[in-house]
Amino acid sequence: MKNKIRLGVNVDHVATLRQVRGGKTTYPDILEMVLASVKAGADQITIHLREDRRHIQLQDLKLLSEKCPVDLNLEMAVTQKMVQLANKYKPEWCCFVPEKRQELTTEGGLDVIKNKKNIQKAIQKLQARGVEISLFIAPDLNQVKAAFEVGADAIELHTGHWVLYQGARKLKEWDRLKKAATRAYHLGLRVHAGHGLDYTHAKKITQLPFLKEVNIGHFLVCESLKSGLQSSVKKMVQVLK
Ligand code: PXP
Repeated sequence: MKNKIRLGVNVDHVATLRQVRGGKTTYPDILEMVLASVKAGADQITIHLREDRRHIQLQDLKLLSEKCPVDLNLEMAVTQKMVQLANKYKPEWCCFVPEKRQELTTEGGLDVIKNKKNIQKAIQKLQARGVEISLFIAPDLNQVKAAFEVGADAIELHTGHWVLYQGARKLKEWDRLKKAATRAYHLGLRVHAGHGLDYTHAKKITQLPFLKEVNIGHFLVCESLKSGLQSSVKKMVQVLK
């Protein structure tokens, strides 16, 4: 039987909706959305505490580190401050990502080759606390090798470009993803994937060799509007009667 692929639900954009009103509203309640995701079958909850705090806040990390009933996966830049916070709140997983202030979302993979020393130091510190580490990288064999050399537990392959590409470019990127996944597996690394996945691409990604986990956020939050808005408008119509 094929192994089940774990689903990490990224709730950053639940926090985005709260933060567009300055974080002053009591809704949406992030813990409520986490519990709803878990009830629906999420194996893990993923959050990205960005330096600019545009969505997830320190308070969310604190709350979910205490109350999240499944594994918590903290996406983070490899900075001293973030390593300190991860060390303090001890999520089950940390996923190291590159971070630029102006970007709309995480745009590229981590350059493990260029930042080997820094990444290795952060991995060792957090693994000593019992935190498992994945590195968010492009499907590049040299980056996979570097991820193995710095002692990561897993790689998360960046699927964002593959999702957006069309035609021959898409096929080529799929081939790169397959080769990177296979190499990672043979080096003993767990294979995760994520970014930009919708139902169609999630279905296809199940064919990626050795895949153990996906992390999906933006699409799920957007998709929830389809069923959710209708019922909330219905309820408001009742309230106004
Ligand atoms: N994995 C990583 C490492 C990410 O940075 C993100 C975006 O925060 C995701 C997965 C989820 O991407 P999306 O929100 O496009 O599903």
